[in-house]
Formats: sequence, C-alpha cells, structure tokens
Amino acid sequence: MANENSGSHRLRSRRWFDNPQDPGMTALYVERYLNFGLTREEIQGGKPIIGIAQTGSDIAPCNRHHLDLATRVREGIRDAGGIPLEFPIHPIQETGKRPTAALDRNLAYLSLVEVLHGYPIDGVVLTTGCDKTTPACLMGAATVNIPAIVLSGGPMLDGWWHGRLSGSGTIVWEARKLHAEGKIDYEQFMEMVASSAPSVGHCNTMGTASSMNALAEALGMSLPGCAAIPAPYRERGQMAHATGRRIVEMVHANLRPSDIMTRAAFENAVVAAAALGASSNCPIHMIAIARHMGVAHDLDDWQRLGPEIPLLVDMQPAGRFLGEAFFRAGGVPAVLKELLRAGRLNGDVMTVTGRTLAANLESVPDGDREVIRAYEQPLKENAGYVVLGGNLFDNAVIKTSVIDQEFRDRFLSNPAHPNVFEGKAIVFEGPEDYHARIEDPDLGVEDQSVLVIRNCGPVGYPGSAEVVNMQPPAAMLRRGISALPTLGDGRQSGTSGSPSILNVSPEAAVGGGLALLKTGDRIRIDLNTRRVDVLLPESELAARRQAWTPPKLDHKTPWEEIYRGMVGPLGTGGCLEPATLYLNVLETRGES
Ligand code: FES
Ligand code: MG
Repeated sequence: MANENSGSHRLRSRRWFDNPQDPGMTALYVERYLNFGLTREEIQGGKPIIGIAQTGSDIAPCNRHHLDLATRVREGIRDAGGIPLEFPIHPIQETGKRPTAALDRNLAYLSLVEVLHGYPIDGVVLTTGCDKTTPACLMGAATVNIPAIVLSGGPMLDGWWHGRLSGSGTIVWEARKLHAEGKIDYEQFMEMVASSAPSVGHCNTMGTASSMNALAEALGMSLPGCAAIPAPYRERGQMAHATGRRIVEMVHANLRPSDIMTRAAFENAVVAAAALGASSNCPIHMIAIARHMGVAHDLDDWQRLGPEIPLLVDMQPAGRFLGEAFFRAGGVPAVLKELLRAGRLNGDVMTVTGRTLAANLESVPDGDREVIRAYEQPLKENAGYVVLGGNLFDNAVIKTSVIDQEFRDRFLSNPAHPNVFEGKAIVFEGPEDYHARIEDPDLGVEDQSVLVIRNCGPVGYPGSAEVVNMQPPAAMLRRGISALPTLGDGRQSGTSGSPSILNVSPEAAVGGGLALLKTGDRIRIDLNTRRVDVLLPESELAARRQAWTPPKLDHKTPWEEIYRGMVGPLGTGGCLEPATLYLNVLETRGES
C-alpha cells in the first residue's frame, strides 16, 4: 500500500544528485543539469524530480498541444515543490505512420522504460492522447512502477459539416462510401474529411484515443474528469496544472501504479468500456498494460464482464454526439457514477487522488441524460465486446454496440436461427489486395458473402493494420447494402461503426487458421455459441495445414525485424513477449 507519510522515503533521484558514496559521479550528474540554468539548490535540495513524458511533436499533431500544456504542468509541479524535467518519447501518430502506428506502441513503450529507469526521475506525468500514446505510456509506467499520472491532451472541438456533426474517422468511412457511389467528388471528399478536425486535440469521436483516455481515468490513473475536457478549453490548462501539482504529492506518498492498476481496476475498465461504446482496440491495449503490471487480466475477463453491460454514452461511432457534448454532459465521472450506482464497479480501488474511486465520485452530479443515459434507460442493452472462437482461430472480438438494426435484419434475423449467419468467404491477402480486387465483377461477392482479410496481424503487416472494416463493392453500396460481415486478423479503427470480427488470433502469418481459408469456403458465424467455423471436414483442414508454408517476411527496417521476432498475438495484447517478464524493474534493482 502507498505510504502516505510525506517525505518518509528517500527519493531515487538522490542516487544521482546526492550520493555520499560517490561524490565524483554526483558532481558530474549535477553539473550537467546546472547548465540550463537550474541552481544547485534546485537540483540537490531534495525536491522530487518530475519527468514530463512528452508525446507531442510536429509529426504527432494529435498530441502537439501537449507542448503548450507542459507549461502549465511545469507550473503545477513547481507550485507543489517539485522540479520538472520534460523529455520526449518516441512519437506515435495514428494517421501518419507507415506501415502502421501499431508497430510503434511497443517501441515508445521501450523508450519510456529506458528513460524512467535510467534517469533521475522520481515521478512522471504521462502526456497521452492519440491512440497508442496512452497504452504505450501506461505500459512503460507499469514496468518501471514509479509514481505516474496521466494527463490527456483532450479531444478536438466538435466538427461540423453542412449543419451537422462531423466526427473524426467516422466521417471518413461515410465520405468514402459517398465517393465510391459517385455522390461527391475528390474536393468535396477532402473538405468533408477535414471538417471533422477543427482544432488541436485528438479524435473527437469515441475512437481509440477518447476510449483509452477514458479507460485511463476509469483505471484511476488520471485525475477525475481529465479525459473528456476538449483540448482548447480553459479547463484543460487547469487540469494540466492540477496534474502537475498532484504528481509531486504522489511522489511524497510513494503512490505507485501497482497501488492503482490492480486486477479490480482492470475489471472496472472493462465495464466502463462497454458503457462508453469504446474502441475495439481497447481489449488489446488494456491486456498489454495489465501484463506489464503483472496483473492477471485477459480476454476471458472481457467476455465475463462486458457483454451484459448496456451502452450509456450516445457518442459516435455507436451513437450521435462528439467530445464537447460528452464533456458538458459530465464526461467519464458521470458514466462511472452511473455504473457504480448500478453495482457494476468496485468502488474501493485506489486512484491517483489518493482516495478510492467511490470517494472521488461522491460529489459528482448525474450526467445530462441526453448524452449519458441512466443505467436503467440505456441506449442499447448488452453492449460489450463478445469474444469468439471456432475452428479457424483461438479468439477474436466483435463490438456489439455497433451492430445496427439494418445489419441485424439483413444477416442475423433468420427466425429459425437467430444470431446465426452463413455465407461464402471472399478472401483478401491484405489491404492492397482488397483495394485492387474489390470492384472486380468476377470476384463473386454476393449479398450473403463474408469478406475476409488476412496477413494483417502483428507479424503479418507488421504491427497489425486497421483494415478489417472493409466496405462492399460500390455496386452493392448503390443497391443499399452498406455493410457485409467481415472477418480478419487485423484490427479496425475505433472510429468505425462496422460490426467486424477482429483481432483474430493467432494470425495467418504465423499459421493461424485464416491462412487455410479459400475463396468460396462457407463460413458460419453463430453469436449464440460465440463461434466462427469454416464448414469443412477436419481432414481437409489438416491437408491444407500440411501444404501451408509460412510467408517470407519482408522487413523494411531493423525495428520491423526485432518486433516480428518478439511480438505475441493481439489476443494477449500484442506485447513484446520477452518484455513482459520485466516486472517492477526498480525493485529488482533494490530501489523501491
Ligand atoms: Fe490521433 Fe485519432 S488519429 S487521435
Ligand atoms: Mg486507430
């Protein structure tokens, strides 16, 4: 448990700046930190040294705002008697990084671990925002286990397009359809997409960024109310200041991630994810954070706790609104309060405030019911992720909150077999193959087809691509069929409202069952038994497995090769497997 006696433990930064056993090294450490104007009193005075892990940069626009917010964080740290030292970690820009930003989550994680472990830092402010920046930061803080607090950069302002809301990512999927149908030209397409990004900040939909920042708050790792404040609002700067102040107190109290990110906290986050309509990337990231924390938490927890939780938040892609409305309605605290009242959360878990979750929520008012529903009057019942298995893979997930009525009516409402769909597989070898062939009339896509994409997992792509939400051919769209069932070993954007079967593990590139599939095979999806099966005899599958040869992996960079050699499946977090063995690294060094 955290030791609340202020200043009763020796700060680890003293090993650098005040080491009586080694005055020579102390002098060397001190002199170089003096040369940007710090005084000896500041650096040697026994004040906590607080790192600000900076994820913003010119090439990471979603988090760039943190470069400005850091000024307020520094002031907060100073006001509370700490010394701030800001440092960069490897940038991750979801929309800009090729082949995919997912490749870089584990690289940013490694870089953060090295900094936190190797430099004189007593506590750290994790600046989060764009999708993978939040899990990367929390994974690093978990491994090193020094006092840490999350500061979200906040979502962009709401976007507007011709008098209606235009949400990050979600508008892209819509614009692509309109463009494919010939209803808008390229200029209109560009204008429509850009309308969703009116200010600094991360995606304003409940995509992976807003979802992961919300779950960081649900875990107890940020101050209450932090996640939802839009980036340009004055409250964001105030939150930055409060976060800076609080981390200094956390260092004095030695309140560490292991005190907060417990098994119960992860279980709370699963429940929160369902109520938020959070991104299908969340299970992957939360499992990765838990593994680096050494906490038992896996897909079984998501299946056990999530499916019966209702959707409470009316935010795109599962609902209507965007980040500003969510913030004004009460944000994450209002959602957590509703879940706590319904008996769905463990209120005894510790948080960065030094108080329990229940204590934090005591004075929180009810949410605005238009945006955050009461538990008894949800937007949708049973809205969590469903975990699927079958004869093609060990696990995959489907986000049920985005299965809309049209899709249900078309594919799942056979009165003899409700929630069961059977169709012909159309198999693509990756997004390039999909784009090259989807409009080919000889492809044979029918109204009862399943679009399958493979070689898009952590090893295959590499990093795992957000591509499973494939849209039907344009001719089909024009006939009014807006979606087909899709299945793949990649992921999909958290901003997509597509009810895809995702994150299939193991992936095709390492010999998972999708590698054996051929176009024309019949696939049966049964949501009642949570199974996806190819309707082939086991002997045929065995023969295909015999004939299968692993694809030759084409590494473009050194990191791609290192990553592919160490990464595990999405179902267990897509972690660098050897890294998950390094728990509590400061303890093993005798530092805590
Ligand atoms: Fe960065 Fe969505 S692309 S937050
Ligand atoms: Mg994404």
